[in-house]
Amino acid sequence: MFENLLENLPASLLRLGILFSGQGSNMQALIESLHQRTFLGKKPIIIEVALCLTNKSKAPGIARAQKLGVPCVVLEPANYAQTSDFERALIEHLSLARCHLVLLAGYMRLVSPLFLEHFPTLNIHPSMLPHFKGKDALRASFEAKEGTGVSVHVVTPQLDSGPIIAQQALNPKPQESLESFTQRIHALEHQLYPKALLQALGLERFT
Ligand code: GRF
Repeated sequence: MFENLLENLPASLLRLGILFSGQGSNMQALIESLHQRTFLGKKPIIIEVALCLTNKSKAPGIARAQKLGVPCVVLEPANYAQTSDFERALIEHLSLARCHLVLLAGYMRLVSPLFLEHFPTLNIHPSMLPHFKGKDALRASFEAKEGTGVSVHVVTPQLDSGPIIAQQALNPKPQESLESFTQRIHALEHQLYPKALLQALGLERFT
């Protein structure tokens, strides 16, 4: 899907930006499986997570990014007069870090059409889209006993609506608690997100 993106990369280096708002466990999984590794496609490609960025100054994920040695910037919307100023600041930071592609990983805001003109962007969502879009999808699908699983999709201006790249269903076990199911969903997310990105880029793991 994004194979063309790789054709004109300087030095065969693909630079990623990751946006998050909370725990950052998906961000960590992406860094651990992709950062500074070489992958095989039409030619070898090195992936670099160039920048992590959060809209929450108290996000626990900040410490995770620092521990993993990846630069992490906090940009709080409240410090900008208008949402469009905040969006421009986001674009500026990711452009300065020379990011080619952006991954949303628990980023609890919509990104603007202007943002999407600058960066192809993917998202992970804890349900089988189009079932249960929006916040609280994990709990809602668990309670409804349908549409449970994980989706990775291309981001469009409409919430949780872009083309699906990868999906995997995961059903609650009989009598399973929401807490236990949530842990299993997160474990699945951590596997599926890096795999889906590589699939979209037409890359295979090499080192
Ligand atoms: C994940 O369940 C993701 O699917 C959703 O937000 C949650 C973020 O978790 N979009 P974490 O911050 O990656 O731990």
